[in-house]
Amino acid sequence: MQDVATLTGLARRMPKAELHLHLEGTLEPEMLLEFAERNSVPVRFSSAEEVRRAYEFTDLQSFLDVYYEGSAVLRTAEDFHDLTAAYLDRAAADGVRHLEPFFDPQAHTRRGLRFDDVIDGIVSALREGERDLGISWRLVMCFLRDLPATDAIQTLGDALPYRDAITAVGLDSAEVGNPPEKFAGVFDLARSEGFQTVSHAGEEGDADHVRRTLDVLHVSRVDHGVSVMSDPDLVARLVSERMPLTVCPLSNVKLGGFASVRDHPLRVMLDVGIVATINSDDPAYFGGYLLDNYRAAIDELGLTREHLHTLARNSFEASFLPAGETDARMAEVDAFFAQE
Ligand code: ADE
Ligand code: ZN
Repeated sequence: MQDVATLTGLARRMPKAELHLHLEGTLEPEMLLEFAERNSVPVRFSSAEEVRRAYEFTDLQSFLDVYYEGSAVLRTAEDFHDLTAAYLDRAAADGVRHLEPFFDPQAHTRRGLRFDDVIDGIVSALREGERDLGISWRLVMCFLRDLPATDAIQTLGDALPYRDAITAVGLDSAEVGNPPEKFAGVFDLARSEGFQTVSHAGEEGDADHVRRTLDVLHVSRVDHGVSVMSDPDLVARLVSERMPLTVCPLSNVKLGGFASVRDHPLRVMLDVGIVATINSDDPAYFGGYLLDNYRAAIDELGLTREHLHTLARNSFEASFLPAGETDARMAEVDAFFAQE
């Protein structure tokens, strides 16, 4: 049995990908105040401590309200660049080698920002991160599921000139009351335009929501998916289809899904053969970046060295890297564990 610090060190050094990370969710309280000041955006907070005190949530909607409020300080391409660059520095410190971040263009275009500024800022920082930090990336554009599907179709149109920068489309925001069927048309359209697809599901929605997300949206992976554990047939399907789940333990606890990480099904998911991965979701809001999520799972769920090996492999298997590169990254993971 290795101790928590030793295993967390291993988790930091092992090659791995982060696949569920909202760039807007990396807005630290200090950055919120800095962007508010440089853009002259009025905010109701006068100190980082005050902002932090507002980061107490009871459920997904109570978080989303604060998350969209915070996003309003982002105004220029430079803001999106600086936000992304700051996250990449944190990710590099946690040993992230490949990143597939989400962004929410509608949270910004509905405030009057230009789609082009949002994406230009993000992509310029991702390119610099690849050059300077060695972090490869594929970008995922999420539609806000509480807005009408027609808005999503319009946003898909905005993204067409950026097809070489945006690999996939996803679905986030309020899950309950906004079922996958609402977005079947825009997801079909996105696929016909060459985009891959992912979707949040089973975060607050039930296992049937996850099943319908697979059947109706034909996604390549499911973001969260923690509610599947109540449905043995669905679990068996996920295992046999090797359908990945991007799991975010600290997020699920912060938003009230589980009383503590000790109650989280991640370890069981791995033990039954689900292709689960560990991710941080909105680290500035949920009290931890990628390695903090690994540390909590090691400490509170007793993850072993074998679990870490599987998680590292899963993170590349679930990625949108081309097959040959995925194989090479998994071989790198195996070589790492063989010499550790
Ligand atoms: N947008 C940002 N974080 C989210 C989450 N955890 N669930 C749904 N939408 C989100
Ligand atoms: Zn998320």
